[in-house]
Amino acid sequence: MIKNDRYLRALKGETLDRPPVWMMRQAGRYLPEFMKLKEKYDFFTRCQTPELAAEITVQPIRRYGMDAAILFSDILVVPQAMNIEVEMKNGVGPWLPNPIRSMADVDKVIVPNIEETLGYVMDAIRLTKQELNDAVPLIGFAGSPWTLLCYCIQGQGSKNFDKAKEFCFTQPVAAHTLLQKITDTTILYLKEKVKAGVNAVQIFDSWGGMLSPVDYQEFSWKYIQQIIEALKDDAPVIAFGKGCWFALETMAESNASALGVDWTLTPKMARKLAGPHMTLQGNFDPTRLFSPPTTIKKMVTAMIDDFGKDKYIVNLGHGILPNVGLDNAKAFIDAVKEYKQPES
Ligand code: CP3
Repeated sequence: MIKNDRYLRALKGETLDRPPVWMMRQAGRYLPEFMKLKEKYDFFTRCQTPELAAEITVQPIRRYGMDAAILFSDILVVPQAMNIEVEMKNGVGPWLPNPIRSMADVDKVIVPNIEETLGYVMDAIRLTKQELNDAVPLIGFAGSPWTLLCYCIQGQGSKNFDKAKEFCFTQPVAAHTLLQKITDTTILYLKEKVKAGVNAVQIFDSWGGMLSPVDYQEFSWKYIQQIIEALKDDAPVIAFGKGCWFALETMAESNASALGVDWTLTPKMARKLAGPHMTLQGNFDPTRLFSPPTTIKKMVTAMIDDFGKDKYIVNLGHGILPNVGLDNAKAFIDAVKEYKQPES
C-alpha cells in the first residue's frame, strides 16, 4: 500500500482536501545534488545504472516532498533499443548521427525484445521502488510515437521539426510504418514498466503542437490512442500534449485517466474542452518560476481555484527549466501543500 496515494486518487477522480503536485522534469538540472552526479557520469550511464537512476529519481522527493516520483530516464532510450543510434551531446542535446530518411532506413528499425534491450530500466524501477518504500507512487513514461519520430527523422531538437514533417508529408507510408513500430515497442515497454512496479504511465507528446489539428489526428493522436487502449487495464495513463489544446475535446473521449495541458490556455478553457469528468494536469508556465516566491504562491493558489481542487493534478505546463532557483521550486510545491479551499 502506498502511504501518500493522493496522486493515484486524483487519477481516479476522488475528492481530496488538496490536489497532488509534482513537476515535469523534476529529476534534473536545477538540483545541485543532480549536478554533482552529472559531473561524474555521462547521460546514458546515468540512465543505464539502476543505482544512479534510482538516486536521481528520489532526490527531488527528498528535498521537496512531491506527491509522486518520476523515474529518471529519457524518452530516447526507446529509439536506441530499436536499433537507432542516439547520443546526448553537451550543449546540443539529443544527437542522432544516422537519422532516418527513407523506407530502407525504416526497414532496419526493429521492434526489440524489451528485457534484452531495456532491462536496465526495469532494474532501475525495482530499485527505486525499494528506495521509495511506498512513500509515494512512481510514474513511468514514454515519448509519444510522433515525438520520437521527430527526433528519429530530424536527428536533433528543432524549432519546427521541418525535416520530420516533410518526411511524413512526402513519404506517408514509411512514416506510418515507423510510427507503428514505435507504437508496438512502446506498448511492450510500458507493460514491462508496469510489471516492474510503476504505478502510472505518462505519455509525453512534447511536439504534438507542431502539427495542424488534422495532421495531429493522423500522425500523433491515432497512435497515442492505441497505447492508451493497450495499457488502460494495466495502469492509469496520462497523456500530455504540448500545444495540443485544439485536440482536448477528442482526447477527453479516450480512456486516458488524465490529460496534461500547457499554459497556452486557461484552466477554465481546459475544463470546458475536456468536460467535467476528466482529471487535468498542469499548467503553470515554467518561466513563471522566475517570479518571486510570494508571487508564485499567489499564482498557484489562483490556478488551483480555477481548475478546482478535484480531478486535478498540479504541475507545470512543460518541464522545469535548469536555471530556476531552489526556493522558487519550493514555493511552487509548498503553495499546493498549504492550499485551503475558499469559503463558499
Ligand atoms: O524528472 C523527470 O522528468 C525524469 C527525467 C526525464 C528526462 N527526460 C531526463 C533528462 C524525462 C521525463 C525526460 C523526457 C524527455 N526527454 C522529453 C519529454 C518531456 C519534455 O521535456 O518535453 C523529451 C522531449 C526528451 C528529449 C531530451 N532529453 C532533450 C530535448 C534533452 C536535452 C535538452 C535538455 O532538456 O537538457 C534531453 C536530455 C535530458 N533528459 C536531461 C535530463 C535531466 C538533461 C541532460 C543531462 O542531464 O545530461
